[in-house]
Amino acid sequence: IFLYISVCLGVDYDLDDRTGLGRSFDGIGALSGGGPKFGASLQILKVEIGGDAQTTDGTEPSHMHYEDDENYFRGYEWWLMREAKKRNPNITLIGLPWAFPGWVGNGENWPYSFPDITASYVVSWILGAKQYHDLDIDYVGIWNERHFNNKYIKLLRYTLDKRGLERVKIIASDNLWEPITSVVIADKELQDAVEILGVHYPGTNTVPKALKTGKKLWSSEDYSTFNDNVGGGCWARILNQNYVNGKMTATISWNLVSSYYDDLPFGRDGLMTANEPWSGNYVVESPIWITAHTTQFTEPGWVYLQTVGHFTHGGSYVALTDERGNLTIITETMTHDHSVCIRPPLPPYNVTAQNVTFHLKGTFASVSELQVWHSKFDFKTNKTVLFQNLRPIKVIEGSFSIELDVDEVYTFTTVRNGQRGSYPDPPSSAPFPKSYKDDFDVSGNPYFSEAPNFADQTGVFEYFTNLTDPGPHVSTLRQVVTQRPVTWVADADQTISVIGDYKWHDLMVSCDIYMEAVHTGGVFIAVRVDKGGGVIRSTRGIFFWVYADGTYKVTNDLSGMTVLAEGLSGTRARVWYKLTLTVKGNYASADLNGYPLWKNAVLWEPRHGWVAIGTSSFELAQFDNFAIEALA
Ligand code: GAL
Repeated sequence: IFLYISVCLGVDYDLDDRTGLGRSFDGIGALSGGGPKFGASLQILKVEIGGDAQTTDGTEPSHMHYEDDENYFRGYEWWLMREAKKRNPNITLIGLPWAFPGWVGNGENWPYSFPDITASYVVSWILGAKQYHDLDIDYVGIWNERHFNNKYIKLLRYTLDKRGLERVKIIASDNLWEPITSVVIADKELQDAVEILGVHYPGTNTVPKALKTGKKLWSSEDYSTFNDNVGGGCWARILNQNYVNGKMTATISWNLVSSYYDDLPFGRDGLMTANEPWSGNYVVESPIWITAHTTQFTEPGWVYLQTVGHFTHGGSYVALTDERGNLTIITETMTHDHSVCIRPPLPPYNVTAQNVTFHLKGTFASVSELQVWHSKFDFKTNKTVLFQNLRPIKVIEGSFSIELDVDEVYTFTTVRNGQRGSYPDPPSSAPFPKSYKDDFDVSGNPYFSEAPNFADQTGVFEYFTNLTDPGPHVSTLRQVVTQRPVTWVADADQTISVIGDYKWHDLMVSCDIYMEAVHTGGVFIAVRVDKGGGVIRSTRGIFFWVYADGTYKVTNDLSGMTVLAEGLSGTRARVWYKLTLTVKGNYASADLNGYPLWKNAVLWEPRHGWVAIGTSSFELAQFDNFAIEALA
């Protein structure tokens, strides 16, 4: 009977600050901005500190490829941080290394043998951000989802302070709650060095010990779920419940935007999709609008009320205040199957439609009206609504009731300037152009060091200017990593960058190549390349190699285990050659400088894949006049 009554009459929930407030909110962010009050209006931007190694969907260049090298204009993260700051000057910036250049480990695949070198390498990146881009980095991490080291963390703190970077705080350890929590509790100096306990994919839960540290708790990486409406549901559930269940005051999405080939690992696991630079098409997916439900009506520094929790019939609510009378309430009623994230497993639970009544007490008792923003995922018909502005709701004598259906998100807020920002439709989606050329002739000082559409999977390929070359190859693309990095996953022993349409099978690729390593050099062009990311070592395809020792090879894999053909080519280092590879059906052939070198190599697998260029080891080599003609 009680249950029956409560369903009919609804259940009451107090929102009250009279007994004090909860934790201070630090923001919602994404890994890799947004205009305040327009779209996702992100409060945090976390970027990788490039380490020249594979970190899920490609490599990002280091600011120090070599010990005596420093350059703060490589890759896209500097650009991204600057653009984010233009839109939201208050956005919190975080840097975290996944990998390090080989010299940082001094030949070992480990960054802590010479912790002073690692610390000064990381601090250089923070100083460079300020010096060259006027970017103030707010937080720095240790080593993504890998071991931390007490001595290193303390030394990092010491080095930051010594360089005048007291304001830069340390997050540790971007992994699980343990062992970092216990180690922080046991070591007073470490306790002082670490500002934030940052964990990944916490499944909205924390551990009692972590709460006991008194540290801020963050979900410093989360989400990583396909960005359809279930992905939106996952995001809605964890944004609320990371606080309700786990007292986490920031949640950061991996990743910010899916701007990588769909067939690389974790395709479309970003808050939105923009992966056709050749067409300009992009898709604002549901997680963007789910983010807006919180970010457009809060700021870092707002404070959660203690009175947050779960609804009796499933779902959750949080409430935050600026402590100056403003109040933002976010509710979510995501059902289990419509809010599963990639990890960890989600235990079963029930959510049903319900009537809830909020009673605003304390400071909020005088609120008379709340703005209402609404999203509802509809998985049956196609009537999903996202971030819709409904009529304000009247608060009568401190109370208001609302009928909640399943799979809904509401924001009730005193903040009036929410906006569902929009632009005219982007260009339509289109496949990668079948006829494609790049001569890498970038005039002036290109903002990006990387050539468009190439996705480096091992090694780093950069624009290069041959200042002494009188010939046609002044502007080239150069592979620059000469030593195996301190890796995050198992990078290949060769370097490789992929490009094009994963569905291509019959095509002609040509490229001018220049080996720099005398005797030991080796360079390839390839088609039907079937893998990228962390499994790059085992990628297959049709690889055409020439070597500085005067030979060539055709192999069925990047590692060179399966040789389809080999012979003499007369190639050597420091000479430009034009390589052409043609693949049609089950046959491949190749030209060297326009003359047939080998033909009719027989192919079975793989049937399709990307085009690629690369080198046979971590060595310098250059590429020019790259061209693709895809037949099918
Ligand atoms: C995380 C990792 C990210 C990305 C993601 C994919 O564990 O930190 O870099 O690989 O997994 O789900």
